[in-house]
Amino acid sequence: GLNVSAPTPAGPLRVDGPRLLQGLSDLARIGADPRGGITRPSFSPADREAVRWLRDWATEGGLHTEVDPAGNLLVRRPGRRHRLPVALMGSHLDTVHNAGHLDGAYGVLAAVETVRVLSAASAECRYEPVAVAFANEEGALFPQPFWGSRALMGETGDMSVDPVDNEGRSLREPLSLIGGDLDRVAEAAWHPADIVAYLELHIEQGPVLEQAGSRIGVVDAIVGRIVFDIELVGAAGHAGTTPMRGRKDPLAAAAQITLAVRETATRRRLCQRATVGRLEVSPNSTNVIPGTVRMTAEFRDGDADRLELLEKLLHREIPAIAEELGVHAVVQTSTRVRARVTDERLRAAVAEAADALGLNHMTVSSGAGHDAQIMAAQVPTGMIFVPSCHGLSHVPEEHTKDEDLVAGADVLLQTAANLAL
Ligand code: GLV
Ligand code: MN
Ligand code: MN
Ligand code: MN
Repeated sequence: GLNVSAPTPAGPLRVDGPRLLQGLSDLARIGADPRGGITRPSFSPADREAVRWLRDWATEGGLHTEVDPAGNLLVRRPGRRHRLPVALMGSHLDTVHNAGHLDGAYGVLAAVETVRVLSAASAECRYEPVAVAFANEEGALFPQPFWGSRALMGETGDMSVDPVDNEGRSLREPLSLIGGDLDRVAEAAWHPADIVAYLELHIEQGPVLEQAGSRIGVVDAIVGRIVFDIELVGAAGHAGTTPMRGRKDPLAAAAQITLAVRETATRRRLCQRATVGRLEVSPNSTNVIPGTVRMTAEFRDGDADRLELLEKLLHREIPAIAEELGVHAVVQTSTRVRARVTDERLRAAVAEAADALGLNHMTVSSGAGHDAQIMAAQVPTGMIFVPSCHGLSHVPEEHTKDEDLVAGADVLLQTAANLAL
């Protein structure tokens, strides 16, 4: 079982703050988007460069790196040693479009830094500290979010057809370019029993810690999420000559559906959050009635049963809304991730580490999704949050104070040290 010892008598270990901050700012240049922020979706050329950059950064620190068949980058202490159960730490390097530089990257770099400090501190570890940069957490280009953590947990599902990106291109080649192998993805799976703990450090991405004046968030739960892929098929036509009566306008249907989606989380209170974030209009031309629209709708809630009910309801309601406008709707659930709670002992371990470092902490829950919720299904999982300025994330303005970034990394290190040393 999980063995959490008291903090080392010599006082807490510390990360190299300047090295961590410099790493974050170097990495932020990769995928910098001229329209603002960072656009580094998984399996894009920018993501490939980020993976290469991280390999170099870890190698410079004397660590051993390896990319698994799913495209996850694993970072360990060097040398062949007796196989120990693993204390796994990490997050993701990929981003949404025009993203900030901390969502994901922060947790990965802090995890690598933690392995580096532990490696220097002691050869003797009860658990092997391993850092991971999970592939494709966001699903921004290839709409298979949590791809890497799912593969690690043996959850890749039906692989009889290649996963494809938003334009229908296969994952096969982009995955092989970073060192993965689609035919061997099943081999990326670990035995959950080999992982004593998974720890993920992340920016909060919401306003709770900042408003409370708390330095550290001990995450108790992560919301569940379902994503629908909706295809609306109508009839394209001339905008000037086609009478209004009898039109089959899929964009008008998309508008109605967008408002209905919003209402599930407002007036109807069927879930906590509901968002339409992606719309693809074809042919997308001023004087042409659209022929087809593809859109996504995503829903979040802390209660798995509520989300399941909502999913069933909307599979009936959305086609009905479209039908009223003569439009045919095909609705598919493309992502379904359950809400999860973190491990009680790891919550206590994180709080204890924060106490040892003199950092005030509070319990928070996560409205954003994380690889941690995939891991939590099978492995004791803990999550550490640091404050986000103005609660902003998934936008270029995403920011956390340097001292908070370093403090969070110290908490990760201290928690890992209490496990491993
Ligand atoms: C992950 O970033 C999410 O969308 O919550
Ligand atoms: Mn994100
Ligand atoms: Mn993230
Ligand atoms: Mn306390």
